[in-house]
Amino acid sequence: MRILIVFVSGGVFVLCGGQEDVAIAPMETKEQEALYSSIQGFLGEWWNGSDLYPDPCGWTPIQGVSCDIFNGLWYVTGVNIGPVYDNSLTCTPNANFTHHLFELKHLKTLSFFNCFFSSSTQYPIHIPSSSKWENLANTLESLEFRSNPSLIGTIPTSLGCLKNLQSLVILENGLTGGLPIELGNLTKLKRLVLAGNQFTGKIPVSFSGLTELLILDISRNHLSGSMPLTLGGLTSLLKLDLSNNMLEGKLPEELGNLKNLTLLDLRSNNFSGELTQSLQEMVSLKEMIISHNPIGGNLTGIQWQKLQNLEILDLSNMGLTGTIPESITVLRRLRFLGLSENKVTGNVPTAFARMSSLCSLYVNGNNLTGKLQLSYLFYKKMGRRFGAWNNPNLCYKMELISASEYVPFGVKPCESKKRL
Ligand SMILES: *[C@@H]1O[C@H](CO)[C@@H](O)[C@H](O)[C@H]1NC(C)=O
Ligand SMILES: *[C@@H]1O[C@H](CO)[C@@H](O)[C@H](O)[C@H]1NC(C)=O
Ligand SMILES: *[C@@H]1O[C@H](CO)[C@@H](O)[C@H](O)[C@H]1NC(C)=O
Ligand SMILES: *[C@@H]1O[C@H](CO)[C@@H](O)[C@H](O)[C@H]1NC(C)=O
Ligand SMILES: *[C@@H]1O[C@H](CO)[C@@H](O)[C@H](O)[C@H]1NC(C)=O
Ligand SMILES: *[C@@H]1O[C@H](CO)[C@@H](O)[C@H](O)[C@H]1NC(C)=O
Ligand SMILES: *[C@@H]1O[C@H](CO)[C@@H](O)[C@H](O)[C@H]1NC(C)=O
Repeated sequence: MRILIVFVSGGVFVLCGGQEDVAIAPMETKEQEALYSSIQGFLGEWWNGSDLYPDPCGWTPIQGVSCDIFNGLWYVTGVNIGPVYDNSLTCTPNANFTHHLFELKHLKTLSFFNCFFSSSTQYPIHIPSSSKWENLANTLESLEFRSNPSLIGTIPTSLGCLKNLQSLVILENGLTGGLPIELGNLTKLKRLVLAGNQFTGKIPVSFSGLTELLILDISRNHLSGSMPLTLGGLTSLLKLDLSNNMLEGKLPEELGNLKNLTLLDLRSNNFSGELTQSLQEMVSLKEMIISHNPIGGNLTGIQWQKLQNLEILDLSNMGLTGTIPESITVLRRLRFLGLSENKVTGNVPTAFARMSSLCSLYVNGNNLTGKLQLSYLFYKKMGRRFGAWNNPNLCYKMELISASEYVPFGVKPCESKKRL
């Protein structure tokens, strides 16, 4: 005989065998049917929920579906579709959104991972643009579409009604078009990730309304135009990633207001107009990556010593001039410094050898001059992670090198004075 012990509001009920028909986690019939029908839309006709999972919030839980109790009845609070675990819900190639999804009254979390994956020409699908999202406006806190190549079309403006959303992730799908200004209405958002699609147009100025945002990642799209000054108002931001777009214009001075920012990634855009001094005000930064932008300007114009938390500083391929400032060599936590492919001149500071955290230093492709005065131990520690090649007027001191295997790669030995 099977015995199930269920704890409900402090009471203990012992149910004996032969009662499989009793729903142990009671639900409204409508809610239960909405759950079955919406999942069937993604999995296919073969999937018969009432047969397979007669008590979906109780003793026959569905992988990826979570429930909670409201006024004595169970409701679905989470639906996560996609192959996360072995027994997860996996979509059929012609998966559909059905209107039943919007009938789940207490839905808080909705995610689709690797669900819409057929070759996009075969079964392309759009995010529903209907006003039905309003049904979920009071409950939905997290919405995620991740790695769905055949999910195409634009972000529906109706997502702007999801006023309780704290996390919106639309990552690595086939979406196109502009970013709707209505997303600026999602004022409770803490995370907005729209990376790895094919979005075009400008970053909406309305994003300035997202004052609780901690993470903003719009990288790997085709966005153009300038960086809105108003992004400087998002003072709670921890991570700002705009890399790999076609953004242009000057970096706004307002960036300096982002005192809590730990990651700034602007690599591979078309930013110009020199490094703004306000970069030195972003005192929490651990990673500053601005490489591959035609920014130009003088490397010595920034007081690098103010950025004491920096671990990664990548300024390669930016058309920078000036000399390597000593103020960079006082950054105790710096692990990676990239200055390659610029127009930097002068000597390589010997103080680099005293930076104990430093394990990658790339200054190749500049016009550095003189004798490298770093020690044999430094060359040994760094190996090829010390890049100094393609500096035609740079050489290393032969006499200090005891074992010729530890010489800076691609740099020639200085000619001894005797031969001159
Ligand atoms: C999705 O909709 C199309 C067209 O209405 C239909 O042919 C297909 O069977 C549906 N897919 C599923 C899994 O129900
Ligand atoms: C699921 O199976 C039951 C009987 O096992 C049947 O009555 C019901 O119509 C089926 N539902 C669907 C949606 O196929
Ligand atoms: C949503 O955003 C649009 C455009 O920014 C605005 O016109 C509208 O009033 C906003 N709606 C709400 C409910 O805040
Ligand atoms: C910045 O971080 C500190 C410490 O975590 C926090 O107290 C402060 O509220 C944050 N500032 C903003 C504007 O969120
Ligand atoms: C980059 O910006 C410059 C103006 O600063 C413009 O002339 C150029 O066409 C832009 N390049 C691309 C690839 O957008
Ligand atoms: C860079 O700035 C320094 C200090 O202001 C100055 O001495 C130097 O001439 C500048 N270099 C270039 C190439 O503008
Ligand atoms: C590199 O610097 C040397 C001396 O400082 C100068 O003569 C030479 O013209 C520079 N080369 C380039 C490509 O700027």
